[in-house]
Amino acid sequence: MSKLALIALDGPSGVGKSTTAKAVAQALGWSYLDTGAMYRAVALALHREGLALTDRPALETRLASLKLEQRETRIFLDGEDVSEAIRTPEVTRLVTPVSADARVREVLVEQQRRIGARGGWVVDGRDIGTVVFPQACCKLFLTATAEARARRRFLELQAKGSSLPFEEILADQNRRDHADSTRAVAPLRKADDAVEVDSSELTLAQVVEWIVKHHREHQA
Ligand code: DC
Repeated sequence: MSKLALIALDGPSGVGKSTTAKAVAQALGWSYLDTGAMYRAVALALHREGLALTDRPALETRLASLKLEQRETRIFLDGEDVSEAIRTPEVTRLVTPVSADARVREVLVEQQRRIGARGGWVVDGRDIGTVVFPQACCKLFLTATAEARARRRFLELQAKGSSLPFEEILADQNRRDHADSTRAVAPLRKADDAVEVDSSELTLAQVVEWIVKHHREHQA
């Protein structure tokens, strides 16, 4: 299998993958693909249209007509900018079963492969190094302790005026970690050839610098 010039950045919720991936892409002059946003956009579409995952023929038809586009860091669903709409707590809750659906994954993985086929992308997700781009030249698995991730999220929300208790954020994150890593299709897992980066004690700048240096030393 020949290597593809692409960085696969996987890891659990709240570990800072998207911020890291964006900064790494900028440092390398590459593009950034947020695959979580694609699953979120599908969850939003199904929710708005009252479509259940169990309604297979209607789901199949909808998936065939679905148009997802990423322009810069904005995500468009059938031409509408849904970048904010996909970040609500409701979509965060609804996306877990949607992202566990084998057919939804098949459709989105196919799109992701088409987008990244020629390389020059930093792609973040859960299954990028294991399923979507096993031939990526550089695979990273970003981790941080559950407490460190929940603390960051807690401070972020506090800065936005939220008073959600730390314990609630941690419990919700644990639920999502469990669902992501135990689902039958493409569970969250470190690829055997991925390098694990524990960001618990590192700043964003330090993680980005480490990844860029690692990539330059190991590129295809
Ligand atoms: O990274 P995020 O929180 O925006 O991801 C949203 C959801 O999609 C989350 O439940 C994990 C799932 N996801 C996935 O299953 N595979 C991916 N490649 C990216 C995200």
